[in-house]
Amino acid sequence: MFKAVNSILIIGLILLIFLPAPAHAIGKSTGFHSAVTQMSETALIQSLAAVSTTQAVDKKAESSKKTVSHADYDKIDPDFVGIGPGNNTVPFIIALVVFLLVTFMGRRKNCKAPKVMKLIALLAVLYMGKIGYTEARALGRQQGYAPVQPIWFSHKVHAGQNGIDCEYCHVDARTSRHAGVPSLNVCMNCHSQVHKGSVSGEKEIAKIYDYLGYNPKTMKYDKPAKPIQWVKVHNLPDHVYFSHAQHVQAGKVECQECHGPVEKMNRVVEYKELAMGDFCLDCHRKRGIDTSNPYYKHYKFKELKEKQGIDKITVDKIGGADCSSCHY
Ligand code: HEC
Ligand code: HEC
Ligand code: HEC
Ligand code: HEC
Ligand code: HEC
Repeated sequence: MFKAVNSILIIGLILLIFLPAPAHAIGKSTGFHSAVTQMSETALIQSLAAVSTTQAVDKKAESSKKTVSHADYDKIDPDFVGIGPGNNTVPFIIALVVFLLVTFMGRRKNCKAPKVMKLIALLAVLYMGKIGYTEARALGRQQGYAPVQPIWFSHKVHAGQNGIDCEYCHVDARTSRHAGVPSLNVCMNCHSQVHKGSVSGEKEIAKIYDYLGYNPKTMKYDKPAKPIQWVKVHNLPDHVYFSHAQHVQAGKVECQECHGPVEKMNRVVEYKELAMGDFCLDCHRKRGIDTSNPYYKHYKFKELKEKQGIDKITVDKIGGADCSSCHY
């Protein structure tokens, strides 16, 4: 019995070393890979500078207190730190060490409580299995991804404190697949007047002028403009079709149901895991379509209700669960 349990534990250990470890490594490297490829050069340089030259940043902060270093993001946004699977390397190693230790101690002849040791070993294996599962699930998904952007643009300041409507900037959300990101000319509707913010002072708003080649003193566009490269946060795989118009306009789904409380975020974070089952299909199976939409007038809702007892037409009933409606 003792031998059987031990050999199971050892096989479990070998499997666990080989399975979750590479899964973990891949998960992290894809995360890193996409972070690097999606990050614009300037953003990357800025974030590296923020990390490696904290001293310089400190000095700068002294000279002008109204600057926000990108390293300060997390302090400003404590509510949105730690969304997603997080980094499981250290807990995994600790569990592995515990497992090895108790296995070793349990096998010694003078061990006083072999049953307790076995129990601890089993718990450690279960815990490592749980980490393996979490990491494997997160592969290719980016919940918690919150890249540093080239300008310290805060949704909390704009959509929250100043109450600007989401669709003022994301104009295409109602009419097209992509909600789109506004051009800097949209920013100038206000920032031709507003030169200073309460968190970052003039520094970040000055970047808008810089990108546009605008001179706030002469109020003329007299320098060459350069394109800004925002870093994309949400990104479904290429084999998935998703349309904002279908959801925002036809489906009457609020932005926050999918993106979380963006109006409270200084830095946009991928709030939900954009998974096929738990995210897309889960909603499609529960959510009723808007029956006042004239497009759906061929559905005889009253009759369905009386004859079949169906009180709402969920999205999956109109094709929202067919593979081909979401996959090319
Ligand atoms: C003043 C203009 C403005 C307003 C208002 C605004 N946004 Fe944005 N939004 C932006 C800009 C610029 C970006 C790109 C930079 C970034 O990601 O922070 C962005 C990015 C985003 C992203 C991430 C896009 C990606 O790359 O995946 C989401 C999601 C988003 N906005 C949702 C919202 C929601 C929801 C609201 C309303 C609560 C809103 N926005 C209001 C300007 C705005
Ligand atoms: C049903 C869920 C859902 C709703 C509702 C929704 N979004 Fe999105 N949004 C997504 C997904 C999924 C993506 C990633 C799309 C992709 O990669 O093709 C995305 C991407 C974005 C982007 C990145 C740029 C783009 O268009 O791909 C912005 C900006 C954005 N959403 C803003 C908004 C705003 C503003 C609203 C509300 C008016 C909104 N979204 C409503 C799910 C949603
Ligand atoms: C509808 C008006 C409006 C639009 C459009 C707008 N802003 Fe602002 N923005 C403001 C106001 C008002 C403030 C000052 C808030 C405060 O008091 O800190 C501000 C502040 C800022 C700040 C400084 C934030 C701080 O508190 O330090 C930055 C950076 C900024 N905006 C960038 C942008 C960018 C980039 C865009 C375009 C994508 C944009 N804004 C579009 C009204 C606007
Ligand atoms: C919060 C709820 C919700 C979530 C999450 C959601 N959807 Fe939807 N979806 C809807 C609603 C509501 C409709 C129906 C709109 C209408 O009346 O046409 C819809 C319709 C669709 C349709 C059209 C279906 C058809 O055959 O007419 C597609 C495609 C679609 N969604 C894809 C997606 C994908 C891909 C995701 C995940 C990335 C997703 N949806 C997540 C609510 C949601
Ligand atoms: C409501 C939209 C929707 C429908 C319907 C749907 N899918 Fe998906 N599917 C997605 C999204 C979004 C992803 C990518 C996100 C993820 O990793 O789950 C995906 C990913 C996948 C993947 C890749 C999984 C991975 O881990 O990379 C496969 C395979 C797949 N779907 C098959 C199917 C099949 C088969 C059906 C029909 C039975 C189907 N899908 C129906 C939205 C949908």
